Amino acid sequence: MVTGAAGFIGSRLALHLAQTGHIVHACDWADDSGCTPLDADPNSTASRLRAARMAAVRQAPGVHWQKLDVANSNELLDWMGRVRPERVIHLAAQAGVRHSMQAPQDFVASNLVGFANVLWACHRHQVARLLYASSSSVYGMRSEAPFEEADRTDRPQSFYAATKQANEAMAFSFHAQYGLQSLGMRFFTVYGPWGRPDMAPYLFAQAIRRQQPVTLFAGGELMRDFTYVDDTVAAVIALARQEARWQGAAVVNVGHQRPIRVIDFVQVLSDLLQTSPLIEHAPMQTADVALTCASESRLLSWVDVWPDTPLQEGLGQFVRWLEGWDPLGNRQA
Ligand SMILES: NC(=O)c1ccc[n+]([C@@H]2O[C@H](COP(=O)([O-])OP(=O)(O)OC[C@H]3O[C@@H](n4cnc5c(N)ncnc54)[C@H](O)[C@@H]3O)[C@@H](O)[C@H]2O)c1
Repeated sequence: MVTGAAGFIGSRLALHLAQTGHIVHACDWADDSGCTPLDADPNSTASRLRAARMAAVRQAPGVHWQKLDVANSNELLDWMGRVRPERVIHLAAQAGVRHSMQAPQDFVASNLVGFANVLWACHRHQVARLLYASSSSVYGMRSEAPFEEADRTDRPQSFYAATKQANEAMAFSFHAQYGLQSLGMRFFTVYGPWGRPDMAPYLFAQAIRRQQPVTLFAGGELMRDFTYVDDTVAAVIALARQEARWQGAAVVNVGHQRPIRVIDFVQVLSDLLQTSPLIEHAPMQTADVALTCASESRLLSWVDVWPDTPLQEGLGQFVRWLEGWDPLGNRQA
């Protein structure tokens, strides 16, 4: 079972699972036009992307689709009771650090109520293992690198990070109370084809292509450990396969310990687009952190192999996809 399957990572994961012969029960709260209760405009880039990703997932053999809001406990219990999944991979959430600065309330239903409902449904239906998306943002503002899973995570810099930290605490309590085995996967800035339009790679690429200014915070000196989406999906699948290696309420970083300055990231992107960027500087946002850098030791000790797509290659895939998705016609994507 995969939640958030119209999303960037969830759709890629559901497609990969289906293409490798699994039966996938996929859900999302988006409707056929990609609209959600928080984004009712079918012409928004985010809606059009969700609709296109969802259409691809629903066409794949072995996929059973359910429109579902995880914040609705009864519907979720009912669906899980009918499906009786072996494993649940819960990716549905409201994502985005900057969005959580503008509208923290948008995160409560999906990330807190929804997460509690997923835990409860897994317990009630005796799901053996739950894997769920946490985030590098739980590490907060710090300069010591790399980030180790045992490091403190009680100083969230954004409300989004607070919800992910809360998820890890809630999962811990469900293990203590009921013995639920769970794994919080701390994803590190995932990028690639079908990526989110609110994230830096998409925003930067579109600005460069349209010869509009690229806004760089803090002089472009912020550092991010970017992870290619197929590497992320490969890690999720490998962790699901190697479930005997993680016990209790575990957490693991899914990042390559290879951070790059955002200004250098923009340079790689503009080289691939063969267009010089127009840079506009802005002060650092309060919800932002200066650095993300995953220690990958725990992940590598739990999975035997993990692909490490070079940034140049991953961004090349992203650029090729973007040029096909939005050939810079009349429509603003
Ligand atoms: N992309 C990243 O860099 C990144 C980094 C760290 C963590 N994460 C986490 O990974 C997960 C997937 O991220 P993504 O980038 O694919 O985001 P996304 O926004 O593309 O996908 C999330 C999906 O969840 C769905 N959703 C939201 N609330 C829901 C609800 N109440 N019921 C059902 N569906 C709901 C959305 O419609 C969307 O399709 C999220 O939990 C996110 O917080 C992502």
